[in-house]
Amino acid sequence: MATTVTEIAADIYRISTFAPDFGIQFNQFLVKDDEPFLMHTGFRKMFAATRDGVARVLDPARLRWIGFSHFEADECGALNEWLATAPRAQAVSTVVGVTVSLNDFAARPPRALADDEVLQTGRHRLRFLATPHVPHGWDAGLFFDETARTLLCSDLFFQPGDPPPLTQADLVGPARDAIVAGKSSPLAKDMPYTPYTDATLQRLADLQPLTLAAMHGSSFSGDGTGALRGLAGVIREVLGGP
Ligand SMILES: [Fe+2]
Ligand SMILES: [Fe+2]
Repeated sequence: MATTVTEIAADIYRISTFAPDFGIQFNQFLVKDDEPFLMHTGFRKMFAATRDGVARVLDPARLRWIGFSHFEADECGALNEWLATAPRAQAVSTVVGVTVSLNDFAARPPRALADDEVLQTGRHRLRFLATPHVPHGWDAGLFFDETARTLLCSDLFFQPGDPPPLTQADLVGPARDAIVAGKSSPLAKDMPYTPYTDATLQRLADLQPLTLAAMHGSSFSGDGTGALRGLAGVIREVLGGP
């Protein structure tokens, strides 16, 4: 598996591994700072590729924070491999994530972040937002790098294939196509439409991100607010009906 490393915003590195078996990319994001932060660990079986990607930017043993959106193998499967590699690293998640999964799963105690809490990693301020069931999982949360105006948006804006690292082209159309196609897939029903789905997406749009760091597919550079409002409309239209 070839892994590419691309700086998509100031000091934010996209570490991308294309998995032919899945036909999709698995992208982790490294914030290079005094206390380096990694968004998603990637699969446990992908650990060597992710670690080697991180090593092209900084010493993996320096990693301080490990964040992710929700408890799934591609988001945090390699957590304990990272905790063994980086002695000062600590996992951060929602209260639900810590209580339900990480207190048991993680080899060292995790830290629970409150909704809207800011994690300062040095120069970068990472605002944490609890986003239950967006994209999925009651433990879900997302990070917004206020310094680089980058939303680390996990499975939102999912695109299949092996597209370029960064695009200014519309991502709402491809994301819509993937959501529609996904309805007839064996992996359908990944995202529920709840009474707070739209409010959560509008809250993300209000952050006014300039970069959207998607876990599967290209990152987006441009009007993040417009893209998120567009995605909210698509999700309401495709998933919100009876
Ligand atoms: Fe997921
Ligand atoms: Fe994912």
